[in-house]
Amino acid sequence: MKTDRPSGAPGALDEETAVRLHGPCAVRGTLRVPGDKSISHRALLLAGLARGRSLIRGLSTGDDVRHTRQALGGFGVGFTETAEGLTVDGGLRDEPDGPLDMGNAGTGIRLLAGVCAGQPMFTVLTGDRYLRARPMDRVAQPLRAMGAVIDGRNDGSLAPLAIRGGTLSGITYRVPVASAQVKSSVLLAGLHAKGRTVVIEPTVTRRHTEEMLPLFGATVAIDGTEVEVRASELHACDVTVPGDPSQAAFWVVAGLTAADSEVVVEQLYTGPGRGGFVDVLRRMGGDLDVDTGTGTIRVRSSRLRGVRIGPQDIPDMVDEVPVIAVAAALAEGTTVISGAAELRVKESDRISSTAAMLRAFGAQVTETDDGMVIEGGRALHGGIVDSHGDHRISMAAVVGALSASGETVITGWDSVATSYRGFAADLQKLTSGAEGIAAAPADTTAAALT
Ligand code: S3P
Repeated sequence: MKTDRPSGAPGALDEETAVRLHGPCAVRGTLRVPGDKSISHRALLLAGLARGRSLIRGLSTGDDVRHTRQALGGFGVGFTETAEGLTVDGGLRDEPDGPLDMGNAGTGIRLLAGVCAGQPMFTVLTGDRYLRARPMDRVAQPLRAMGAVIDGRNDGSLAPLAIRGGTLSGITYRVPVASAQVKSSVLLAGLHAKGRTVVIEPTVTRRHTEEMLPLFGATVAIDGTEVEVRASELHACDVTVPGDPSQAAFWVVAGLTAADSEVVVEQLYTGPGRGGFVDVLRRMGGDLDVDTGTGTIRVRSSRLRGVRIGPQDIPDMVDEVPVIAVAAALAEGTTVISGAAELRVKESDRISSTAAMLRAFGAQVTETDDGMVIEGGRALHGGIVDSHGDHRISMAAVVGALSASGETVITGWDSVATSYRGFAADLQKLTSGAEGIAAAPADTTAAALT
């Protein structure tokens, strides 16, 4: 696929971070995506808390995870890059001597807030302008109920958050919204709380924290939507992070929607809570083979049809809605997405940024309070897409561009580094050699895109 930075672009474009693509273009090939972002955050935090040296293989190379690693460095956690992976010398020895910048990472700041609540230290957590606008009261409230003193802007509900942690008491907390971040924050605080800490979710969300805690020696019990943790001393452990299904979703949808395409993504996490997009794409008529043993997904170009996606579907595909919306725009018929109000408080307001992206391609979409209605089947044309600093909008827009005729410009492209630094190189890999497409020289394009 021909990709380039815009030249002579209209003044409104940020030339430093915009990229342009020329479609349509097929995607063909086999690849591995970066280590799972959610699992990487948890592996770092638990290894940081544990006594001894842990080894993490396959850690996400995205900026979000780098910020969590840097923040742990502020507590005196030691890191060494080795040929095998990252070694972590755990133990939060030091009180950080300044604010810890979590960048764009919602998972990083909310989970670390839970860790800080259990430490007899004063910590300030902050982030970029997008993160500072996202709600933090969802973790601050239960952590305060456990005994932490937490303040922040806007009556303590926005970062920077100032946390004075210490001896906590366990609570039973009913999470009002389905959120793995809130569940995990409270469970991490529970490691240093007196008595039992129980989290009850409205519906089960990704299980990474409760799956990983016992590997580091914590006492955890799971019963349906309830998870209980008890005060536990963690010990070091080796973790191998599988590929990120949320990143694979871009190539999976690209392989299904672009003409004459076939894509295989290998070594993915296939545990509970993350495969909702696969189920939805099957319902849409997608030709997908999944091998849960090896974590491989194979897809081929398919004629998709519109479906209803409701509140029961959203927790298992919460990060995949933008790219599923692209699939819906390219499907025959109407797709209704509802029960997704949480998307309004992601890295951007993803209901409105996704709808705006689709409109830029000429799709017909109506925003609702908790989702959108997409009338599929129109031919898409290139347009100017504003990522709103949101990595998933940038990458979903690339998937749209692969099926759109003409030039697409994506602004705020540097947001991709949040989670997927090698995205441009992988796009080159899957599009070079496609018939009728003049791919830009790989080095030029990779440089322009990363
Ligand atoms: C995540 C949980 C989800 C998801 C985010 C990662 C996690 O957020 O959107 O990208 O790692 O726990 P919520 O818990 O706010 O739904």
